[in-house]
Amino acid sequence: MKNKLLISLLLLTWTAMPAIAGKEEEQQIKTRQSAYIFLGWNTNRIKSQVVDYPKTFNKDEVQAAANVIAAIANSGLGKLYGPGTDEGVGWKKTRLNPEFFQKQEEARKIAITFNQEANELAKVAASGDIFAIKNQFGKLSESCKSCHDSFRLRESF
Ligand code: HEC
Repeated sequence: MKNKLLISLLLLTWTAMPAIAGKEEEQQIKTRQSAYIFLGWNTNRIKSQVVDYPKTFNKDEVQAAANVIAAIANSGLGKLYGPGTDEGVGWKKTRLNPEFFQKQEEARKIAITFNQEANELAKVAASGDIFAIKNQFGKLSESCKSCHDSFRLRESF
């Protein structure tokens, strides 16, 4: 009885192994997508209050959103781009362009610029100067776009 249990446990571990390896990649994709969804929510709040409806500008809210964006940018997102994460499903099928793994130097440069722009936005947001915030927000958005143009696949599949 005990032996049977042990054997079936061993078998279970054995057959579960490839699934666990796949899980790690899917976990990275899922966390990555979560980070970008949350980034998107925070950038939309700033865009709304600074670009689209400046009458609704609330310094504290914009500053909070900018701080979150900087925190995400500084969190080491690169760790969520492990080998094999250009395939698989997180919350949905990943859109990471496989070229990411061949163009590490370009990816590194884009990531550094994104970090700098995010940290600068947090600084500028603390000043409460809506024109300066708008200007810096534009620079941050360009850095999002340059990464998407190079490394995010279109949504059409
Ligand atoms: C270093 C590259 C890079 C930067 C910088 C970047 N993104 Fe992305 N973004 C990606 C990739 C790659 C994906 C696809 C992730 C996946 O599906 O695995 C993505 C996905 C997204 C998504 C879709 C998330 C989903 O799954 O629904 C949003 C929204 C998004 N990014 C917003 C932003 C915003 C806003 C910024 C800037 C503040 C930004 N991103 C900066 C690479 C980047």
